[in-house]
Amino acid sequence: MSPHDDKRPTTVASNAIARVQQAAADLGGHPQDHGWREFYRLIAYGLELRSPGLVTVLESAMTARPESGATHLVTMLGIAVRAQAPECFRSPPTGHSPEQRLAVLEAVLDLHAEPVAATIAARQNSFTGTRRFLLPQVLLSAYFADGDHEVRFADIGTGLGVLPAQLNAADLYTRFSADLRWPQGVPAFRPIPFAARYGLDRDPLPDRAWVRACYGPSVYYREMYRELIESMSHPQVREAEVKYAAVDLLDTEALAEFLVRERINAVNLSYVLYELSPANRRRVLDTLGASLVAPGVVTITEPERELTQPGCTVLLIESGREKPWRLARVSDGHFKGAVTPLEDFDAFTEIHPIV
Ligand SMILES: C[S@@+](CC[C@H](N)C(=O)[O-])C[C@H]1O[C@@H](n2cnc3c(N)ncnc32)[C@H](O)[C@@H]1O
Repeated sequence: MSPHDDKRPTTVASNAIARVQQAAADLGGHPQDHGWREFYRLIAYGLELRSPGLVTVLESAMTARPESGATHLVTMLGIAVRAQAPECFRSPPTGHSPEQRLAVLEAVLDLHAEPVAATIAARQNSFTGTRRFLLPQVLLSAYFADGDHEVRFADIGTGLGVLPAQLNAADLYTRFSADLRWPQGVPAFRPIPFAARYGLDRDPLPDRAWVRACYGPSVYYREMYRELIESMSHPQVREAEVKYAAVDLLDTEALAEFLVRERINAVNLSYVLYELSPANRRRVLDTLGASLVAPGVVTITEPERELTQPGCTVLLIESGREKPWRLARVSDGHFKGAVTPLEDFDAFTEIHPIV
């Protein structure tokens, strides 16, 4: 039977499948390719045909993780299939048609449907960036420069947990800033006056093997992963005092309880909210707003159009201020390239100068 012949009624509304198909098509249209793009295009193609094995795996994923955003589901499908069948990601020999590639994928899903579905049900995409601490370093050091508050900080959705330990690592700041241009020059390194630092993620806390699985199948990502591991072994990172805890963001009671108990007054969320459905993003931000101790600051870095375009946007939410400060765009989500100030940058830096 060809995928075209499959007319089974689906248990998950077909508009949910259509949303995932659109997300896959958008990801497949990303102007850069570091190893996943052809797979995303294949998913979009397979879903357009309602290819049966693919639809079945997605139905089971959406039932297990109804809170997940569509883009996140597509990236998780890639990670889970790659873990079982790396051959799906090798460049197809010339002449391999989309039909043939889809047939290979269907055969893989036929063999490995269970572990693929189980991985998607249990895990999140925990790709952890090595350089994403650069803007939180600049913004939080500026924000807390008046010395009125010690900083009790939590990096939520921390992945491998490197960002909270990299903050205040002056050597890494200097090294990685060399590849990130600012219009007025790189801001001087200033330390953040930490009293406590935490990294939070969902259980099971991501380990190296899982984070490696989340990196793309390419030389580019192999090099980036090497940089991540190398940066973790830097003495300023190793010596940082960071505690880690398993907290599910969607268990807003547990999240609030943690924030209040540890008197957290500053939070960072990098590349986390896009993994949640829009309603859950709101719930999480409301919980932070209600639970953080003064001054209650949240730095947020979110990928451009949910990962479908290069770069990311950096915002800062301040308790008591109705709107987030829209501060900067970074041209590449791996924090190489250029920082472009956004509409609130001048007003923010007038209050909190960046040196
Ligand atoms: C793409 S990774 C980003 C890691 C790191 N913040 C960075 O930018 O390099 C997103 C992280 O958010 C975490 N996450 C997603 N949903 C979560 C939830 N409901 N509770 C806790 N963590 C969650 C994932 O487990 C994952 O490690």
